[in-house]
Amino acid sequence: MKKILSSLLLFQILAGLLIAQEWTVPADKKGRLSPFPFSDSIRKAGLQLYSLNCMSCHGTPGKGNFQALVPPPGDPATDKIQHNADGELFYKVSEGRGQMPSFKNTLASKDIWTIVSYIRSFNPAYVQSVMPEITSGAYSGAVIALSLLLNPSRDSVMLKASAIRGNSVVPVTGAGVKLFVRRTFGLLPLDEEKTTNDQGMAFFPVPSDLPGDTAGKIQVSARFTDEDQFGPVSKDTLLQVGLKIEPVSLVKDRAMWNVVRKAPWWIILTYSLGVLVVWGFILLVLLKLRDIYIIGEHIDSVGAKKNES
Ligand code: HEC
Repeated sequence: MKKILSSLLLFQILAGLLIAQEWTVPADKKGRLSPFPFSDSIRKAGLQLYSLNCMSCHGTPGKGNFQALVPPPGDPATDKIQHNADGELFYKVSEGRGQMPSFKNTLASKDIWTIVSYIRSFNPAYVQSVMPEITSGAYSGAVIALSLLLNPSRDSVMLKASAIRGNSVVPVTGAGVKLFVRRTFGLLPLDEEKTTNDQGMAFFPVPSDLPGDTAGKIQVSARFTDEDQFGPVSKDTLLQVGLKIEPVSLVKDRAMWNVVRKAPWWIILTYSLGVLVVWGFILLVLLKLRDIYIIGEHIDSVGAKKNES
């Protein structure tokens, strides 16, 4: 038993060391920026969220009292965590890895940015960059718009996010965006979430075997990930990309789940035979009853004759 346990432990440590090497964040996620500037009140809210969700493993920042896990969680006040770009911190907290949980389904993206603001308060050299177009006073009240364009080679969709106020149009940079394909039962994400680049653009690859409707069209829908920041801005478009697919009708052929008229032959046959057999038996019983009745009559008449004589 001890041997098994110790070899398990060794395996864990080795595996831990292997993964501990590098935690690379996809290039297009690194540049993601907080949609709002970090302020004292936000850092305070961040402390609350950190105490509830992170402190148990990462300890009090600056104290180095994090849990002895493999790989170690690290102290947020140290360079191990501070060397991350804002977008990297956001990504790592959202996705998690190994014993570091994923928080994307437990915390709103606003909350994760709030925790990042708290973590950054331990770094005196930190200067925040926010998505300037949206948060700067100059563009408050701007209309945020998304547009979608299919690349001529049909292998990717370009999404462009812009802030429009009057006749000035500015790209929305560093914003998380998602692209969905509309299907019968809801929206299906196409590839992962992307971050808009410095021209406000993000590119989503389109698989060549994506099934479309009868005309080979698919309906796509673009959204911001930070809906609380941008509002429920979305852009729906039909794109000519998919394979032409004739919808499969579930009720075209004879099948168990179809209407009576389209039931499978064998069911109709079995059912009819069953009904015939049942009615046959009833008929048989009636005939036998008639026989009994006739015999009874006969016996009666014979008895009556005997009595007469
Ligand atoms: C159950 C324990 C646990 C909890 C809770 C936890 N973490 Fe972690 N965290 C870890 C471990 C372990 C790692 C190291 C993971 C790795 O490198 O594979 C880690 C890594 C990280 C990293 C990456 C560090 C680096 O070297 O780049 C960040 C950032 C981070 N955690 C932030 C947070 C925040 C913020 C929270 C709370 C919202 C949190 N963690 C909650 C265990 C935890």
